[in-house]
Amino acid sequence: MSDVLSVGIIGAGGIARSHIRAIEENDNIQLAAVMDVDGTRAEAVAAEYEVRAYTNMEALLEDPEVEAVHVCTPHKFHTEAVVKAAEAGKHVIVEKPMALTLAECDQMVDACEQAGKILMVGQVMRYYPVNRLIKRMIADGEIGEVGHLMRRRYSYFNPTGPDSHYRHWYLDLEVGGICVLYCFGPHEYDILHWYLNSPVTEVYARGTESTELYRGQKDTYTAVMTHANGSVSVLSQSVVCHSSAHDQYIIGSKGSMMLAGQKLIVNGKEVPVEGTSGEGMPNQIREFAACCLEGREPDASGRSVRHTMAVIEAAKQSAERNEPVQVSEMTS
Ligand SMILES: NC(=O)c1ccc[n+]([C@@H]2O[C@H](COP(=O)([O-])OP(=O)(O)OC[C@H]3O[C@@H](n4cnc5c(N)ncnc54)[C@H](O)[C@@H]3O)[C@@H](O)[C@H]2O)c1
Repeated sequence: MSDVLSVGIIGAGGIARSHIRAIEENDNIQLAAVMDVDGTRAEAVAAEYEVRAYTNMEALLEDPEVEAVHVCTPHKFHTEAVVKAAEAGKHVIVEKPMALTLAECDQMVDACEQAGKILMVGQVMRYYPVNRLIKRMIADGEIGEVGHLMRRRYSYFNPTGPDSHYRHWYLDLEVGGICVLYCFGPHEYDILHWYLNSPVTEVYARGTESTELYRGQKDTYTAVMTHANGSVSVLSQSVVCHSSAHDQYIIGSKGSMMLAGQKLIVNGKEVPVEGTSGEGMPNQIREFAACCLEGREPDASGRSVRHTMAVIEAAKQSAERNEPVQVSEMTS
C-alpha cells in the first residue's frame, strides 16, 4: 500500500486553491488532476501545479492515478459528485455544507458505505488548534458541566460587491441554499455539538430578512438549542452586519470560557494557544489522507456531519413554523 494518497479536485475555484496549498504542505497526499466545468479555470490551475486538467467529471473519475477526490463545487452539485466518485471507487472529502437536503446527505453516506470508501466533510473548524483545545478542556472537566454555550458570527458577506472574489451563485437559493444557514451555518452549528460531544435534540430559531441584499432569503438567524446532555446552545448569525463578530462564551458549573478570534480566556485567565486557525486546512487535509490510507473513519465523517445538517434543517423549519422543532423529526 502506498503511503501517499493521489487526489483529484472537482471544482477548481476559490476554496480549491486552499485545498491545493494544504496538499502541497503535507507529505501524505499529492495532487494528480483537477476538473472544472469551466475549462479555462481547470487548465489554469492544472498548468500552475503541473497536473492533468479535465472538464468532464467522468473522465477525472476514470483516471487510474486518482484514488480520492475533493469536491469543491457550489453546493447544489455536491451530491452528484460524491455519489459518482464513490461509485467509481474513490474516497471523498466534500466541502461544507455536506448537502442542501438530508435526503442528499443520506445518499452520500449510503453510496460511500456501499463502496467501502471514506466520506469526510470539510468541517475545517474542527481542525483549528484552539477548537481542539477547547473540546479537550471541556472533556477534561475544566469548567465542569456546561450549562450554556453562546456563540455569535456576524459579518457583511456580499458576493456581488466589487471587491468580492466570491461568485454570484452564493445568492442563488437553488444553488447555494439560504446563505447564512448553508454557507456559514455548517461551521457554526457543527462546532456546538462537536465541542460538547452531545447531539442537539431540539431547536427553536427565528430568522429575519433584515435587508434586501439576499433577495428574498433570510439573512440573520438566532437559534436556541437543547443538547442531549441538557446543555443549551445559543447561536446568532448574520451575513449583513457591517461590524464583524466571531466569539463565544461557555458557562460551566465550575468555571467559564471566552473565545474571541485566537484569544482564549478560561476562568478569567488567558490561556496560550499553540498554532493558529491557518493550520486548520492543512490539518484537515492531512487527516483525510491518513484516514484513506489507513482505512480509518474521520472525525468529520458523513454520519457525524449529517447530524449538523439535520440541526440546520430543524432551525430552518423552526423559523418557518415559529415553534420548537425536534431534530429527530428531521428524516430524509
Ligand atoms: N471551508 C471554508 O471555509 C470554505 C470557504 C469558502 C468556500 N467553501 C465551500 O467550498 C465550495 C466552493 O466554494 P468556492 O467559494 O470555492 O466557489 P467558487 O465559485 O469559487 O468555485 C466553484 C468552482 O466549481 C466549478 N463548478 C461549478 N459547477 C461544477 C460542476 N458541476 N462540476 C465541476 N465544477 C463545477 C465552478 O466553475 C468554479 O470554478 C462551497 O461548498 C463553499 O461553501 C468553504
